[in-house]
Amino acid sequence: MARLTIALGQRSYEIAVEAGALDGVADHVAPWIKRNRSLWVSDSTVAERHWPRIAAQLEAAGVAAALHIVPAGEASKSWAELARLTDWLLAEGVERSDTVFALGGGMIGDLTGFAASIVKRGCDFVQVPTTLLAQVDSSVGGKTAINTAAGKNLIGAFYQPRFVLIDPQVLSTLPPREMRAGYAEVVKYGLIDDAAFFEWCEAHGADVLAGHPDALHHAITTSVAAKARIVGEDERETKDRRALLNLGHTFGHALEADTGFGERLLHGEAVGVGMVLALHYSARRGLCASRDADRLAAHFQACSMPVTLQDAGVTADGAELVDHMRHDKKMAGGTLPFLLARGIGQTFLCHDVDLDDVAAFLDEAHADAR
Ligand code: NAD
Ligand code: GLY
Repeated sequence: MARLTIALGQRSYEIAVEAGALDGVADHVAPWIKRNRSLWVSDSTVAERHWPRIAAQLEAAGVAAALHIVPAGEASKSWAELARLTDWLLAEGVERSDTVFALGGGMIGDLTGFAASIVKRGCDFVQVPTTLLAQVDSSVGGKTAINTAAGKNLIGAFYQPRFVLIDPQVLSTLPPREMRAGYAEVVKYGLIDDAAFFEWCEAHGADVLAGHPDALHHAITTSVAAKARIVGEDERETKDRRALLNLGHTFGHALEADTGFGERLLHGEAVGVGMVLALHYSARRGLCASRDADRLAAHFQACSMPVTLQDAGVTADGAELVDHMRHDKKMAGGTLPFLLARGIGQTFLCHDVDLDDVAAFLDEAHADAR
């Protein structure tokens, strides 16, 4: 069992990582239960697989538990589901001192966190992440959001949970493809500023993906510690520090936009291809060695993860992809800051990127694969 802290003054909280934690869920969440009742939000898939044992334990502990089920899938990060969820919370008589529990992947965490931030001007919430992506990234750090017709995550708030409970064993029911998508975010922490962790990933990535308990525990705790450190330094992404966590995301969001933000290309898969592109683009600009980009691509390929535009099913040309980037919420004064790298473990925010040059690079990337 590991307990990590994210240091944010009055908004500080603990992240517990323990295999089998959900078998003792009533004890773990006891400090957050008020009035002997609890309000839970999950998606249809996670609820079917994991809610019965959680409900049974809460009942045995004498805690009433109400569950709101959201349809599984990214489409539920919507105004419509936000309205359904907040209506339900109000109908349940939620009070400001109550805690709402988010049981699910990044979709449920983002939607529930945003609902908690606005209902009665804010009630507490606790994250119980059930995908690898959510355990290593989205459940920690307080970014909450929904998607709109204008784009992804454009409506949201910084709103920290009060506690995060991570049970790696819950990943045993996660489809392998979702596991690999989450693994891209694990590797991201090595690429940002921890070359030794990247090396560890090269040696142990297969064990992580196979659900080996020790490897999974190390991957999750190292990732969460890195995220907690970075968010602790720059909670609201105002100091060029938290932005490092967006490595691969500018390319990735363009690929997701082209493929429809859904099953064709999962968020983590898009981030993985995006990171490979970011390193290749850095090499093209003479910032890092090509062998670093090749090394990353080789590791992802060894893990059966997509690495090229073709693998990602992207057909749009460079200009079309860059057009998606122009709608990024990080656009400022007509330019878009880009996460580039001087090598593995040496990511930095570059304010000097010409989007036409990025478009030319993406056209070359298409041509290279032909
Ligand atoms: P997700 O929540 O949609 O989960 C992926 C799929 O796995 C869903 O079908 C879900 O039902 C299923 N699932 C979840 N847990 C399961 C389990 N234990 N067993 C079986 N099936 C399970 O997607 P995700 O990849 O977890 O998260 C992606 C979302 O997270 C995106 O909306 C992205 O924008 C967001 N995100 C947010 C942050 C942040 O900092 N807030 C960071 C990264 C990503
Ligand atoms: N996933 C990026 C962030 O939390 O800042």
